[in-house]
Amino acid sequence: MHSGRLITFEGLDGCGKTTQLEKAKDWLTEQGYDVLKTRQPGGTKIGRQIRSILLDPEHEELQPESELLLYLSDRIQHIQETIIPAKATGKIVLCDRFHDSTVAYQGYGRGLNLNSIESVVAHCIKPYDPDLTILLNISPETVPLRLEQREEYAEKDRLDLESLNFFKKTAQGFQVLAAAETERYVCLNGEQDIEVIHQEIVAVLQERFQLG
Ligand code: TMP
Repeated sequence: MHSGRLITFEGLDGCGKTTQLEKAKDWLTEQGYDVLKTRQPGGTKIGRQIRSILLDPEHEELQPESELLLYLSDRIQHIQETIIPAKATGKIVLCDRFHDSTVAYQGYGRGLNLNSIESVVAHCIKPYDPDLTILLNISPETVPLRLEQREEYAEKDRLDLESLNFFKKTAQGFQVLAAAETERYVCLNGEQDIEVIHQEIVAVLQERFQLG
């Protein structure tokens, strides 16, 4: 039996992490691993309700602190309901975003002081830190271009409507996080071809965990 792991995918909106997560899931499944693909926000029943509150473009009145606490609520629920049980049964959990997104988006993007949530994070989230975080770097200028391509099949959500400056600050947040935790983070160039990135991810999984 394989020991359970949590691997997270991070990056700016439109960086391609959802596509890459799906491809990594297919590859790991082909290798015979038991994989759970999930996401934040929205990886539980309660989380899906939280997600719809968070991403509804009509919710212009949502306060930054309310937004922050909703992301945390979703995460705590998801860790307890989904991640812990899945890891306990040996699954490889591939999660689309985790706490790094809160630090990057709410901390750096919105400029919120995250000290107020420190004790909750220390007790409820930090003990479950990912084993590996794959950060797909794209330029903040690429965000609207990628979201335009996506418009055919999805409406823009509340955060997609943020300014270039917001995405620049958020991108900087991810760089600070990656530099502070070089063991956990692998940074890849998300502007490359989908297949090239996938092969890089496969190589990382093979090297880090001897998977495949
Ligand atoms: P997604 O489009 O990757 O599913 O994420 C939904 C949006 O939520 C995306 O714009 C990033 C944002 N987000 C935060 O602002 N803070 C968080 O903690 C998380 C998990 C996502």
